[in-house]
Amino acid sequence: MTKTDSYEALSHELAETIVKQLREKPNSCFGLPTGRTPLGCYGLLSQWSDMRVLDWSRARCFQLDEYIDPAERSMTFEHFLEQNLFKHTNLPEENRFNPRQCDDYDGLIQSCGGLDLTILGIGSNGHIAFNEPGTVRESWTHCLWLTESTREANKSYFGGQPRVPRQAITMGIETILQSDKLILIASGDKKRAILERAMLGPVSADVPASFLSLHPHVTIITDFDL
Ligand code: F6R
Repeated sequence: MTKTDSYEALSHELAETIVKQLREKPNSCFGLPTGRTPLGCYGLLSQWSDMRVLDWSRARCFQLDEYIDPAERSMTFEHFLEQNLFKHTNLPEENRFNPRQCDDYDGLIQSCGGLDLTILGIGSNGHIAFNEPGTVRESWTHCLWLTESTREANKSYFGGQPRVPRQAITMGIETILQSDKLILIASGDKKRAILERAMLGPVSADVPASFLSLHPHVTIITDFDL
């Protein structure tokens, strides 16, 4: 576990780890989240990419999850990643993958050699990607109904909870656990209690993030003490 002093430091730590992976293996497969927590890191990666010091031309990026049928394209996670990261990089369009646009996302990931590094945020109900409480360990990419707490947490993107889509598609727990390396990021006091439950409590579908303790190479980056 890496405890940093601030959100900026967390973002730096994460961005540097991604850059190291990209330099060591230029054709790395990344699993990437959306949300508030990775924004600082994506800002740094965007700056460095704008300066042409990063080469994404051989990388492959897999979205962790996606809404099903949001009212506008600007509300999709695809759009989020495009705006906050991809448009600053030389990542080819054909190397950007979205589970919504693929019948066999797990097969696709495997055919690319598997995920090298997957970044995860944590929901305040313990979800990772959109694996909501109750998701079993033996789950691959699947569609699901979002919980009300997740829809509530994401309402600001949609101008109110009623407009938040009810369904999504997500990499499963098994998809995530198959990644060579995992990084879980958590920022701010509101994430402390759930992270504590995930890391120190029993491994259980009640807190999907608890399944991460079954992985041999998981790093947790926070800006608070547990
Ligand atoms: C989003 C995703 C979610 C978020 C989680 C935390 O692609 O997979 O699991 O990582 O909801 O979101 P933030 O960072 O907004 O607190």
